[in-house]
Amino acid sequence: MSEHILSVRDLTKRVSKNKAIVDGVSFDMRKGEILGLLGPNGAGKTTTIRMIVGLIKKSGGSVTINGKDIDKEAQATRADIGAIVENPAFYEYMSGYKNLKLSARMAKASEARIDEVIKLVQLEKAIKDKVSKYSLGMKQRLGVAQAMLHKPALLILDEPTNGLDPKGIRELRDYLRELANEGISTLVSSHLLSEMQLMCDRVVIMEKGKVIDISELATLNAYKEEGNEIVSLLVKKGQGQLAKDLLEEVEDVRLVSQEKEHELIFEMPRRLIPMVNKQLVGAEVDVFGIESKRTSLEEKFLALTAEQKGEV
Ligand SMILES: Nc1ncnc2c1ncn2[C@@H]1O[C@H](COP(=O)(O)OP(=O)(O)OP(=O)(O)O)[C@@H](O)[C@H]1O
Ligand SMILES: [Mg+2]
Repeated sequence: MSEHILSVRDLTKRVSKNKAIVDGVSFDMRKGEILGLLGPNGAGKTTTIRMIVGLIKKSGGSVTINGKDIDKEAQATRADIGAIVENPAFYEYMSGYKNLKLSARMAKASEARIDEVIKLVQLEKAIKDKVSKYSLGMKQRLGVAQAMLHKPALLILDEPTNGLDPKGIRELRDYLRELANEGISTLVSSHLLSEMQLMCDRVVIMEKGKVIDISELATLNAYKEEGNEIVSLLVKKGQGQLAKDLLEEVEDVRLVSQEKEHELIFEMPRRLIPMVNKQLVGAEVDVFGIESKRTSLEEKFLALTAEQKGEV
């Protein structure tokens, strides 16, 4: 057993002698992780996913799923993957249930498993309705249910939030989390940082076929609400606890992480920053720094997309 569910090494897709649209991509994915593949349009996300899933041939590199090489153990690795690369196609005039039943025959999945996946994606109420009546988000969920029938350990979704409204995105995030709790790892792609921040534990940032950064998201970003700021606070050594106690009393201020005893990171609306500062000073906490910060990831990704639009 491998500690990584997916390992990608030097993955490359060449379309001509001197043009690679995916160029030496390497990353590892931990078990139970939700990993994002983030990059602007044309970065090579779909091409990367297609090679991992085996829909197109790679020009170089290797892909290992659960410790097994996709070339050497094609069948076994395919059984480990559930993927939606293109929009899943359903028979619109049939119910969601009937559609799943048809797929279950191919996946050799039992009736009990069908019920299980329906529950997993929370489609119980609508499953007997015709697919033509489903919203985009419901179709998306039915697609995930379908991809999960054969109990894959790795789920791969290319741009799953396309066309979803914020409610749909939140729902998607919630059940991907549920899946993660059950040990299922998910690789999702998107060109929107904000969506990745809501869904993923880490992101692999791609640009022009290459990986330019791999970042953790969980601590700083996952729960950052829109309109709020991430504020780092540096106080005198030994006063961290006092500062923490004071700020936790303030409504709308939430501790995100504590880097060191005297270095705290909060999430709060911007307007509260001066008030918080006054409160600390009033309680004789020595403030060495209070700073609203964009995360380095936001900086990087904004710079990258600005570059693409010709703004830099
Ligand atoms: N068969 C091909 N021959 C030549 N170029 C290709 C081929 N397939 C894809 N490309 C190009 O490779 C680049 C990467 O495409 P890809 O679809 O992987 O990007 P993506 O990151 O998924 O983008 P999007 O966000 O738009 O889905 C694009 O510029 C695309 O035009
Ligand atoms: Mg794509």
